[in-house]
Amino acid sequence: MSDLLTLRNVTKRFGGLVAVNEVSFTLGAGEVVGLLGPNGSGKSTVMNLISGELPATSGSITFDGTDIGPLPPHRIAKLGISRTFQLVRLAESLSVRDNVIMPLAFASPHVWGRKARRRADAALERVGLGGQGDMAPADLNYIDQKRVELARAIAPDPKLLLLDEWMAGLNPSELRTAIELIRGLGDTGITIFLVEHIMEAVRELCPRCIVANAGSVIADGPTEAVLSTPDVRRAYLGEAADV
Ligand SMILES: Nc1ncnc2c1ncn2[C@@H]1O[C@H](COP(=O)(O)OP(=O)(O)O)[C@@H](O)[C@H]1O
Ligand SMILES: [Mg+2]
Repeated sequence: MSDLLTLRNVTKRFGGLVAVNEVSFTLGAGEVVGLLGPNGSGKSTVMNLISGELPATSGSITFDGTDIGPLPPHRIAKLGISRTFQLVRLAESLSVRDNVIMPLAFASPHVWGRKARRRADAALERVGLGGQGDMAPADLNYIDQKRVELARAIAPDPKLLLLDEWMAGLNPSELRTAIELIRGLGDTGITIFLVEHIMEAVRELCPRCIVANAGSVIADGPTEAVLSTPDVRRAYLGEAADV
């Protein structure tokens, strides 16, 4: 398996707070890896550093042979990294299809017009929203809005997909649908890095997981082995996570 993404000693400070502390790990091409940890442990910040939403304070991030540390989000997206956000972010004034088309303008190569429309409709189809491109996001229920976010992330055909608690807030049957959807994407060979609190999803989707606590990586390895280590169990005490 070739390396796709490597973080080396990445640190992010917000004033006096060290949100991410000397974090290092590598994702191999085609892996599906979970990022776990209690609230405030720096998971979303790691996602934001990889996608370029935030610059690192120090350390390096290499994606597919390129040092992406200094690059802005649209350049990083163009190299093949897509993401969803912890809170759904859809443009309410645009149709579902146009929400999915938008990032295609930044894709490499750019996709416009009828081709973009076809690509968006194919992505909507893949996430289970076939034929609903003309709807307004506000007319969709919560899981369908999450599906639009996923369609928007996969439409540019990224090499790496970052999902930040994409399954949070789903009911049990929606969760099953969501797990199968992500599994299907993983099966196509796309590399997926997902922040997730739902252990059922982590266990089913991620052969490997990385655990963060207070900004540091405290475990990285095969999921079942990682979840049974004393440090990880301690990190979750009082978090009511079903580790
Ligand atoms: N933009 C920001 N400005 C200041 N502090 C932040 C910012 N983003 C996150 N933090 C802080 O960094 C820490 C890690 O946050 P976050 O990465 O969101 O954790 P998680 O996603 O694991 O819950 C928290 O203490 C949070 O308050
Ligand atoms: Mg978070």
